[in-house]
Amino acid sequence: MGSGGREDALAWRLKQSPSCGALIAAPGNPGIARWAECVAIDPCDPRAVVDLARERAIDLIVVGPEAPLVAGVADTARAAGIAAFGPSAAAAQLEGSKGFTKDLCARAAIPTAAYVRTDSEAAALSALDRFSIPVVIKADGLAAGKGVTVAMTREEAEAAIRAAGDGPMVIEEYLEGEEASLFALVDGKRAIALASAQDHKRVGEGDTGPNTGGMGAYSPAPVLTPELQERAMREIVEPTARAMADAGTPFNGVLYAGLMLTADGPKLIEYNVRFGDPECEAIVPRIEGDFAALLHAVASGEEFETPRLSPSTTMTVIIAARGYPGTPAAAGAIDGLAAAEEVPGVTVFQAGTSMKDGRLVASGGRVLAVTAIGRSLGEARDRAYAAINEIDFSDGFHRRDIGWRELERIS
Ligand code: AMP
Ligand code: GLY
Repeated sequence: MGSGGREDALAWRLKQSPSCGALIAAPGNPGIARWAECVAIDPCDPRAVVDLARERAIDLIVVGPEAPLVAGVADTARAAGIAAFGPSAAAAQLEGSKGFTKDLCARAAIPTAAYVRTDSEAAALSALDRFSIPVVIKADGLAAGKGVTVAMTREEAEAAIRAAGDGPMVIEEYLEGEEASLFALVDGKRAIALASAQDHKRVGEGDTGPNTGGMGAYSPAPVLTPELQERAMREIVEPTARAMADAGTPFNGVLYAGLMLTADGPKLIEYNVRFGDPECEAIVPRIEGDFAALLHAVASGEEFETPRLSPSTTMTVIIAARGYPGTPAAAGAIDGLAAAEEVPGVTVFQAGTSMKDGRLVASGGRVLAVTAIGRSLGEARDRAYAAINEIDFSDGFHRRDIGWRELERIS
């Protein structure tokens, strides 16, 4: 389910799985159409999804984005006896409600920023007194990454609260450190680390400018050392899986922990209940073995082996339409993808693309996710940017510095 670069990567890997007979994408995109039959239904309509799955005798539904999960697609599928990789609507609150997650962290003693929940502008303004500056203001609920203000001054914090107005809000302590993402497979009981990655959320080079859905990623993220990853699993992810099961809302699917690596160890910034995009594009090419069988086992709570990951490094560079994350430029033509994919180790996943008069054109903010695997981060980077050189998309732009923190460390 889905139509972005993340779903293109998932479909690509599912299609390579020995256990995958047929693959259907809903609604898909022209990139996904290379591996799957695309069917134009609304992924957020649980009945339409289950009807399609029944009609086509589908064994496993893999949900890419959060919206269908929040709409209850996994619940409806499981109630109909169809395995679904993705949490119930109740468990999806880990992403959908920041207040829910903060309260769970407090109950389970999971390391995270100190916080207060408020539900009016006045209460939020008076709660500010309890925090030092910088401080972080978050609107509750799904906001596509746009509900968070890291306020560097008291005035900025007050302005963010006034702009949000009355409504549920979380105010929290500012955490200092480097961010990394940890992806874990959770089958309702067990949580197993899958891979780490580092995203680049700001639109501009050097991590400047407004936040986006993500402009590039690489995996693994060595800043999350094996010791820190083990600690994050033990102190953050595993207690979360237990707390969700104990509450009668077991989590099933991939749990994405956004971590701040502070001087006191990893702390949870937020959870997402799905793969990250573009982190997924960088992680999936590293997963060895039968991917469809792995997701099916997780979805149905069967025993599954710890997935094997290739020791290679993968980098994904997003090409977005000029104007993103604001209103993207008019849809321009895209050429050169075949030449780009001739660069060794490169796959160009598609996000906001569509076909117009037999030509591939841009139709969204993030358009392409150029992904390269290499023996080192440097090799993956060189391959990804060599591929981008082959792509002819004059309405697009990309960051030239994906991986810069790690590349600086290893140079
Ligand atoms: P979120 O939507 O919660 O992931 O927040 C978006 C971004 O805001 C994160 O990726 C961080 O860069 C930043 N952020 C969120 N919470 C904090 C915090 N408590 N301290 C520092 N930065 C934060
Ligand atoms: N790349 C960040 C996200 O998927 O939320």
